[in-house]
Amino acid sequence: MKDKTVILGVTGGIAAYKAVDLLRMMKRAGANVKVVMTEAAARFVGEITFRVLSGNPVGMGLFDSPEGWDVNHVALAQEADLIIVAPATANVIGKAANGLADDLLSCVIMASRRSVLFAPAMNSGMYESDAVQANIETLKSRGFHFIGPGTGDLACGQGVGRMEEPGIIFEAAAGLLSCKTLDGVPVVITAGPTREKIDAVRFISNPSTGRMGYAAAREAARRGACVTLISGPSDLSDPFGVKIIRVQSALDMQKALDENLPGSKIFISAAAVSDFRPSEPEDYKIKKSDASLNVELVPNPDLLALAGKNKGGRIHVGFAAETEDMKENALKKLGEKNLDMIVANDIRSEDSGFGTETDRAMIILSDGTAEDLPVMKKEELAGIILDRVEKLLK
Ligand SMILES: Cc1cc2nc3c(=O)[nH]c(=O)nc-3n(C[C@H](O)[C@H](O)[C@H](O)COP(=O)(O)O)c2cc1C
Repeated sequence: MKDKTVILGVTGGIAAYKAVDLLRMMKRAGANVKVVMTEAAARFVGEITFRVLSGNPVGMGLFDSPEGWDVNHVALAQEADLIIVAPATANVIGKAANGLADDLLSCVIMASRRSVLFAPAMNSGMYESDAVQANIETLKSRGFHFIGPGTGDLACGQGVGRMEEPGIIFEAAAGLLSCKTLDGVPVVITAGPTREKIDAVRFISNPSTGRMGYAAAREAARRGACVTLISGPSDLSDPFGVKIIRVQSALDMQKALDENLPGSKIFISAAAVSDFRPSEPEDYKIKKSDASLNVELVPNPDLLALAGKNKGGRIHVGFAAETEDMKENALKKLGEKNLDMIVANDIRSEDSGFGTETDRAMIILSDGTAEDLPVMKKEELAGIILDRVEKLLK
């Protein structure tokens, strides 16, 4: 987002205050943000907040001319690399879909040839109305982008219509602005733990959060890839622009891989798949008692090794959690699973491995070259992994 010009359109809904957070995220990422508010938006959040935080005058009236800024709607539309409308009222969506341009924001949207991302926010009744749904369909069919709305607390109760969180809108915006080095490339990524059922309420699992795989999925989607993310149970929110398949067990994950790997060009296996599963899971809840309980475990299929048998020209990336002899052990795994690249994590250190925000990793390629990386956020590591994968693709 660095050095990009983003027009942030703010319209008249309760969620207008969340646009302030979105603005701050974009500023932190180095974007030049110009806010255009509707008159109704100014009833919810003062213009001065956006002016001070953006460091730019705020556009509002079509016929205003704030000092130091050519606020002409055509000039603004041409200057923008991206327009985000957050929150987007039923009104602004309706105007954009039907060719109405009676204020500065609707004129800028209509005059722009760049991507426009709407983050709708409104009461459920309004959102579900035939008119709003038809307007959204019309805009989507013309190439406009939408993010959300989500379901949850609304100013007037519960339901669908809640504006997507600023962090998710930011992510979607970053995706629309980034350079598409993996444009259209089909990528399959696994993430998170698996859950191996013991009975109706108990299971065997591990502390994987899915963060590494989700970060890779997000980064690949940002680069234009067609990403399928096969995820075990995770609390993380769905990455924007990614097809997500939610699974529970290793066998579910295997089925999803069988269906999705053929035809893909890159496979990143970041899931922590359970090595064992109970041999005879019960459908009912086993009653508590004082007697000991024996659960027989049988090995799960080795999904990575199986995928490696039929890989053809596909690039395979695996992960290895190591405590010692990182390079030797990881290289061995790389050979056994027919990988092109392995990312070894030093799980002895507190800032690396399961459940951490950061990793201390070593990237090893099949020719034995190893790259020792400093401790970094998993999101940053995802970028480096994809840079290396792109090199392998070439
Ligand atoms: C308290 C209040 C909250 C409102 N919240 C929303 C909302 O969340 N979404 C929406 O579409 N309209 C909402 N409206 C109605 C819009 O403000 C109204 O349609 C207005 O004309 C929108 O103008 P704009 O699209 O130019 O900003 C709200 C109105 C009031 C009085």
